[in-house]
Amino acid sequence: MTAPWPRIWLAPMGGEAACAPLVAAVCNAGGLGWLGGAYMAPAKLAQTVDAIRTLTPLPFGVNLFCPQPWARDAVREAAFAAALAPFHAVLGLAPPAVPAQCEEDFEAQLAVLLERRVPWVGFTFGDPGAAHVAALHAVGASVVGTATNVPEAVRLTASGCDAIVAQGAEAGAHRGSFLGPRDAGLLGTLALVPQVVDAVTVPVVAAGGIADARGVAAAQALGASAAAAGTAFLLADECPISPAYRAALEAGQGHETVLTAAFSGRWARGLANRFTQATDAMVARGELPDFPIPNAMTRPLRQAAGQAGDAGALSLWAGQALTLARRAPAADIVRRLAAGWKENG
Ligand SMILES: Cc1cc2nc3c(=O)[nH]c(=O)nc-3n(C[C@H](O)[C@H](O)[C@H](O)COP(=O)(O)O)c2cc1C
Repeated sequence: MTAPWPRIWLAPMGGEAACAPLVAAVCNAGGLGWLGGAYMAPAKLAQTVDAIRTLTPLPFGVNLFCPQPWARDAVREAAFAAALAPFHAVLGLAPPAVPAQCEEDFEAQLAVLLERRVPWVGFTFGDPGAAHVAALHAVGASVVGTATNVPEAVRLTASGCDAIVAQGAEAGAHRGSFLGPRDAGLLGTLALVPQVVDAVTVPVVAAGGIADARGVAAAQALGASAAAAGTAFLLADECPISPAYRAALEAGQGHETVLTAAFSGRWARGLANRFTQATDAMVARGELPDFPIPNAMTRPLRQAAGQAGDAGALSLWAGQALTLARRAPAADIVRRLAAGWKENG
C-alpha cells in the first residue's frame, strides 16, 4: 500500500455528520479523515470531495454503502406508514409515503470517487466485489471493507480489500453486517478484532467503543493496525449535527444505547427515544419493509424533527462509549485518541 498509514481514523459517518471540515480537520491533525458519502447524490459527493481538497492536502477516505437486494411490499409499507402517521401529525407533515427514489445510485457515486481519484475508498453493508476493487486499485486507491464477523472479513479480503474495519457491536449507527443472522454480527470489539487479525493477512482497523486513549491502546493490544472512532467525533466542534441531536447526545451521556431497525430497516445503535419506543414491537415482529425503504420513508420526519428541535423523532445514532465523548475541536480529539497509540510499543 502506497498511502501513509495513520493510526487514528475518523470513522465514516453518513448523514448529518458528513462534512468536509470535520474530515479535513482530522487529516490536518495527523489522523485519517473519512467522509460518510452514502447518502450524498453524486453531484454533492463530488462537491464535498472537492471541498475536502481545498481544506487539506492530505489523503482522506470516502465510504459508500454496498447496494443490497430489496423488494417492495405494500402490506409492510402501509403498516410502517401507519406507525409514522402520528409523528407526522405532530409535526404537521404530509402523510408518510415511499418516495420515487429510495437510495442513491451506487455506480454513479463510485464513478465520482474513481474520477476524483479519492485515495482511500471504503464500503459497508457488503462486499464491493473484485471488479470494483480492481477498478479502484487501477486509479491508486486503497480499498477498505467493513466486517462484523470473520466470514465477512475473509470474503472482503478475497475480493482484494487492502484493509478491514472490524466493527464491534459497541459501534454507533448501522451495523455493517452482511453475512449470517443478526447475532452473528454482534461480537464486541474485544472479541472481534483478534479473531479478524488471525483470519486475514491485511491490516485490521478496530472500530466500536473507542473514544479515548485507553480504547486506542486496547485496539493496539488486540493486534489492530489503527483505531477508528465515530461517536467520539459527534461532539466535535466541526461536526454539523443539528442542535437537537447534539443536545440529546449530551443529555444521553450516562444512558444506555439500543439497537433499532425502525429508522432504516437495518440494525443500528443509538439512544432510545419516543420513536424507537413506539416502533419496538413492530421491529421485534420483523414487520418492517426492506432497507432502504424505511430510511427513505422516515427522512421527511427526521428532517422536520431536527428543524423543530424534537429529539423524540430523530435517529440519535450513538455508540456505547458516548459517555466518554467530549465537546472539543476535532484536532484535540485526534490528539486525545493518539496518546493511546505507542509506535514501537
Ligand atoms: C452518526 C454515525 C453515522 C455513521 N455512518 C456510517 C456510514 O455512513 N458508513 C459506515 O461505514 N459506518 C458508519 N458509521 C459507523 C462508523 O463508521 C463506525 O463503525 C462507528 O462509529 C465506530 O464505533 P463508535 O461509534 O463507538 O466509535 C456511523 C456511525 C455514526 C455514529
